[in-house]
Parts: sequence; C-alpha cells; structure tokens
Amino acid sequence: MIHGVKVTNSSKEPDWTELRSRFPVFQKKSYLNSCSYGALAKEVDASVCRYLEDRNEKGADWDFWVGRNEAVRGLVAQLIGAGPEEVAITASVSAGINSLASALSFDGPRNKVIITDFEFPTNAQIWYAQEMRGARVVRLAEEGGQIPLEKFEQAIDEDTLIVATAQVAFGHGAKQDIPAIAEIARRKGALMMVDGYQAFGSMSFDVRQAGVDFAVGGMLKYLLGTAGIAFLYIRQELIEAFTPTATGWFAQEDIMAMDITGYSPSSTARRFEAGTPPVPNCYMAEAGMTILQEIGLENIETRIGQLTASIKDLSAEAGYSVASPPEPSRHGAMIALRCRDEDRLIASLAEDNIVVSCRNGNLRIAPHFYNNHADIERLFRALHKRKELLV
Ligand SMILES: Cc1ncc(COP(=O)(O)O)c(C=O)c1O
Repeated sequence: MIHGVKVTNSSKEPDWTELRSRFPVFQKKSYLNSCSYGALAKEVDASVCRYLEDRNEKGADWDFWVGRNEAVRGLVAQLIGAGPEEVAITASVSAGINSLASALSFDGPRNKVIITDFEFPTNAQIWYAQEMRGARVVRLAEEGGQIPLEKFEQAIDEDTLIVATAQVAFGHGAKQDIPAIAEIARRKGALMMVDGYQAFGSMSFDVRQAGVDFAVGGMLKYLLGTAGIAFLYIRQELIEAFTPTATGWFAQEDIMAMDITGYSPSSTARRFEAGTPPVPNCYMAEAGMTILQEIGLENIETRIGQLTASIKDLSAEAGYSVASPPEPSRHGAMIALRCRDEDRLIASLAEDNIVVSCRNGNLRIAPHFYNNHADIERLFRALHKRKELLV
C-alpha cells in the first residue's frame, strides 16, 4: 500500500477504460494537451476538497501539512530513483534552477554553461541571467530535429561548468539521449542537469542510470497534479558542495530555530528550498502521483507509445508534415504537426471540443494513459476538415 492506494502489479494490463472514467473532462472534450496541463482526476479534485475541509475543521494543521510535503518528496524520489534527502520541493522549475544557479560560482576557470535550442525558455533565460555573474552561455543549434551528440562532444570542454538541457523538447517532442550527454559531461569534468518536465510521468527515468547530477521537473503535466509545485534533484555526493544564496527559512538545517543571526543550510537537498511549502498543491501533487504509482510507469510508457504510433500512422496516411522525429526512441509523449496558422487551427478544433496546443508553428498532440484511439481518430477526422491549416 502506498498512501492508502493499492499498487497494482505493473506487468498486468491496467483497466484503461476504468482509469479514463476517473477524468471527468472526457465527458465533454477530447483532451490531448498533457504537454501543457494534465487532465484533472477525481482523486486530485477530492484532494482539494480535503484540504479545504481540513482548514474548516482544524484551522491550521502544520504537522500534517509538512507531512504532505514530505509525502510528495518521497513520491518524487521513487519516481526518479533517488533518495528523499536528494529531492527539494520547489514552487516551480524556475525556482529550482534559480536556486541551483545561485549555488554555482562562475569566477573560476569553468564558467561555460551549455544549453540547446530544445530548452523551454526558463532554462535558457535563467542561465543567460547568470552572464551578469560571469557565466558564458553556449547554445547548441538543432539540426534536422535533433542536437547531434558530436555537438556536445565538441562544445563541452575544460571551461564547461554545467550542461543544462531538456530530456524532451517542449516544441516538438524530440527526446535527447540524456545518459549519453551525461557521460560526455562527466568525462570532461562538467556538471549535468536535465529538465525532465516534458518526460516525468510519461516514461521511466532513473537519475542514477542516466548519470545526471541534477534534475528538475514539475507536477502540472504528466504527473497529474497542479501548477505551483515542482522539484529539484541533487545527487547526494554534491549536496554539501553547493550552497545556494537564493534561500529561505525552510532551507535551514533547523527550520524551527527561527534564527535571525545567520544562515545554516540543511545538509540535505532541502537547502535548495525557500519559504513555506505550497500546502494545497502538495495535496494535489500527492494524489496525482499516487495514481501514476498505481498504474506503473512502464505500463504508462507502453500505452503512450501505442497512442503516439497511431498519431504518426494517421499523419503519414494523410500526408501531414510531422515535426517530431519518427523513431519511437527519439520522441516523448508528444507528436507535433507543422501548421500554417496555429492559432486558427487550435481555435477551430476547440469548436469541435478537441483540446490541443501549439508552439513555434507546431500543433502539439500530447496523449497520456487516459486517452484512447477514439480520441486520436476524432482529432484526425477534425484535422481532415481543416487540411488547409496544416502543412
Ligand atoms: C521543459 C519545461 N521546462 C520548464 C517548464 C516551466 O517550468 P516552471 O513554470 O515550473 O518554471 C515547462 C513548462 O511548460 C517545460 O515544458
């Protein structure tokens, strides 16, 4: 039992129809927008009510609330194969990266930060902001939907402090070979951070197997939670080597010491946290991640693989131009189609109760385990009626 929920045998095929029935949005919409925001499960909805009831009944229940934050920390640790002491719970991915960046020094011989064309803006902007502190940002260019490993091999050198890159690109779903990039970084003495926001919850990921030093992700997409809660993983051996200057009272070794005479960062990853935990969001994140545990990430990955395969097949049949790489190992849970007028296309599909999103001229089709082939067929029937808006 994990938090009162029975964990099913992940080798057994889950009951996808029953699981889908827990997401009321499907009564009204074909929701294929998990790359932007995951669908709301009844359990997650109920967790908000529970939070409100707790407030009405007890007023403030800090011990229980801190417990919810710790439960989320434990669930994140299990999700990525880390220890709970290696996980900081943050308000956003941006907060986690900022805290990490504040702990790095760019004054020494290593001041180069490597990012790529695949980054979500926050994972570029924060590193460019460090240029005011001496960092040099090098951005590797995309070539035909990928960043060739040779580019990392050439760019990472004795000046490189950190490589900070996305596992799955938010614009078209291309997936990078993070273990291979991490191996290059390690061999050249650089640190490695992965932004797994577009991957976590949609596929298995183990920080130790991947060989990364840091990882960031958040709860509002494939983790089924909400906005306003995220996490930063720091490899155990590195925690005490990095002292963030972006901090707060929940980052101190003894939170309740209420010390105003100095700064005593926690000896765990909690040193990368800041203020009061996002209490209502903890309830929702815990409920969302518990559903994923119940199903098993391998089952989820297989299911998403079947759905993305059918998106690629139907696109090929119709002759639509796919922006995502075709090989299953080289894309995440999103398949993107090139379009001519993305805003018109999204608005027009919404009239047919189909929810998708777009970025950089691409229509992003992002299924999760709760989607089915009927959702995809419905989307393609709607696309065929609007062919002129696609490339
Ligand atoms: C890959 C990736 N990183 C980061 C973010 C944003 O993170 P936050 O808003 O929590 O800072 C997103 C959001 O869409 C994303 O897709």
